Amino acid sequence: MAFFKNAICLAILVLLMGNSSAQLSTNFYSKSCPKLFSTVKSAVNSAISKEARMGASLLRLFFHDCFVNGCDGSVLLDDTSSFTGEKTAIPNRNSARGFDVVDNIKSAVENACPGVVSCADILAITARDSVVTLGGPNWNVKLGRRDARTASRSAANNGIPPPTSNLNALTSRFGALGLSTKDLVALSGSHTIGQARCTSFRARIYNETNLDASFARTRQGNCPRASGSGDNNLAPLDLQTPTNFDNNYFKNVVNQRGLLHSDQQLFLSGGSTNSFVSTYANNPQTFNSDFVSAMIKMGDISPLTGSKGEIRKNCRRIN
Ligand code: HEM
Ligand SMILES: *[C@@H]1O[C@H](CO)[C@@H](O)[C@H](O)[C@H]1NC(C)=O
Repeated sequence: MAFFKNAICLAILVLLMGNSSAQLSTNFYSKSCPKLFSTVKSAVNSAISKEARMGASLLRLFFHDCFVNGCDGSVLLDDTSSFTGEKTAIPNRNSARGFDVVDNIKSAVENACPGVVSCADILAITARDSVVTLGGPNWNVKLGRRDARTASRSAANNGIPPPTSNLNALTSRFGALGLSTKDLVALSGSHTIGQARCTSFRARIYNETNLDASFARTRQGNCPRASGSGDNNLAPLDLQTPTNFDNNYFKNVVNQRGLLHSDQQLFLSGGSTNSFVSTYANNPQTFNSDFVSAMIKMGDISPLTGSKGEIRKNCRRIN
């Protein structure tokens, strides 16, 4: 009898352990790194106080990490002789930024608790803190991801949708990662902060008809028609408040002022996602809560857990 009891207890224990190592949890570092949240928060706040746009850049890094082989810190790896990483992939080259800030955050975390916290988790916390600091919603971040030991430029080119995507392409890419069309629309609300380069929206402001004419003229003023001239000139993704995490993005999209082709795809004549956009334009609370759910879902994409991957010492290279 005692034998069977013990065997059952052991079986349950093994099941629980297997489970806990495969699942993320909000208290993952509560014993091993109690100062984690305060350390990250103060580093994020100091970066954003130097440059408000940095909050947007850090949020985007988490998206670009999670959409390429899951949230595994792969976006942070520099190229090596054995692989070409993601930093020079089309969606990232001359565009992804904030790597130095992530290095600073990682050093601060390493000082507090050496060898404990993954770069993938640092990106997840950093994204949340950026949103909060710019006035968006707060949430508890699930943790326990480990870091990839490789990265791939082609995986990034294939994984991150380009701004020329139509609604079908966006829906199917998000769907392939377990994200619904509602998640797609809510997460796109991230374009209420930050900047885009002329090259990302030139074709739209010169050639598309589903945009407000005066908005098009304004954007044309700093984005010449000829490709190759002014490619890196910047424009705010949200024309009113590009450093406030609010629901203005959706108001813009309803008014045909989405900057990217992919933004305006979410609100087309008779479009299937129009109702989500209108709801978020009219109800910031609903946007905030759907955004939080979608961020948590995005953060759950294929994490490395248990003994997979590693805890990198330096986010730019494998140990
Ligand atoms: C729906 C598909 C998406 C597409 C096609 C897309 C595309 C883009 C493009 C082209 C830019 C401008 C890059 C440049 O010109 O340098 C941009 C910026 C940005 N994206 Fe997205 N994005 C998408 C979804 C997301 C998601 C899900 C998030 C976050 C959860 C996000 C966060 C951002 C942020 C914050 C910026 C501004 C970055 C900065 O100022 O440094 N995007 N995005
Ligand atoms: C606009 O469309 C025309 C015809 O497809 C194309 O030749 C031209 O390069 C486009 N212009 C821009 C700025 O994308």
